[in-house]
Amino acid sequence: MSTYTIDTATSRATPSPVPGKRMTVPALKGRKAEGRTEQPLVMLTAYTMRMGQLLDPHCDLLLVGDSLGQVIYGLPSTVPVTLEMMCAHGAAVVRGSWHALVAVDMPFGSYEASPELAFASAARVMKETGCAAVKLEGGEAMAPTVRFLTERGIPVMAHVGLTPQAVNALGGYGARGRSEAEAAKIMGDAKAVADAGAFCVVLEGVMEGLATEITRAVAIPTIGIGASAECDGQILVTEDMLGLFERTPRFVKRYDDLASRIGAAVESYAGDVRARSFPTSDQTYRPKA
Ligand code: KIV
Repeated sequence: MSTYTIDTATSRATPSPVPGKRMTVPALKGRKAEGRTEQPLVMLTAYTMRMGQLLDPHCDLLLVGDSLGQVIYGLPSTVPVTLEMMCAHGAAVVRGSWHALVAVDMPFGSYEASPELAFASAARVMKETGCAAVKLEGGEAMAPTVRFLTERGIPVMAHVGLTPQAVNALGGYGARGRSEAEAAKIMGDAKAVADAGAFCVVLEGVMEGLATEITRAVAIPTIGIGASAECDGQILVTEDMLGLFERTPRFVKRYDDLASRIGAAVESYAGDVRARSFPTSDQTYRPKA
């Protein structure tokens, strides 16, 4: 499926005139050699075609995260997110990108019950979106599922440490791995999914020391979010790093303050409309002279 030939006179889609070669799972995995990633992997979340287009030239991977539940739909957590939502947004991001590897999150309830259920859900996601990989949360308990999918042609990105779909079991979104027992469990989880064939693993909200040890212990790239600079790559929720929310977690660096800038732009528009200074003749259709 070609994703960079969107071309309609009425759409705002503006595909790249020079399609590149999309990043593949083996190429990405190969970026970590002899336990080291020369150049850290760059990953951000994207949920829409346009954001995909804007992020794509700068990223190795784009994740259509189930964080879209909170960011796009205003839901209280990722738990209510559905396969339909993930498929619709995944397809949009694949259409808007041509360079980065696109991975789509498997939503809560779509994979945990059995490897067979996970395969059916993941196959649907891949068919309907054109993405190259899926991501699922969980460690040792999910290792048989990771193996089942990877042996059947579905690349899996794993996710351990703070796993937001388990918020009700964890009791919140606090950092993980503070106690020795918890750190050992997370290390075991990371090793289990790596052994089961995951091509990379997201480490969320874990202590720096543990992130360092896991990154050394597994052959696949680790992608950190709130897991220190010791990981092989980094991911953030794009809306967080662009400053679209007033409050962000401590591990987020804000690279802009889009919330204020959008507020100022909209205030200016509202003022123009109320003063009848928009539209001007520049924005008005009139018979040609
Ligand atoms: O859903 C998401 O956006 C994620 C990342 C934050 C890793 O899982």
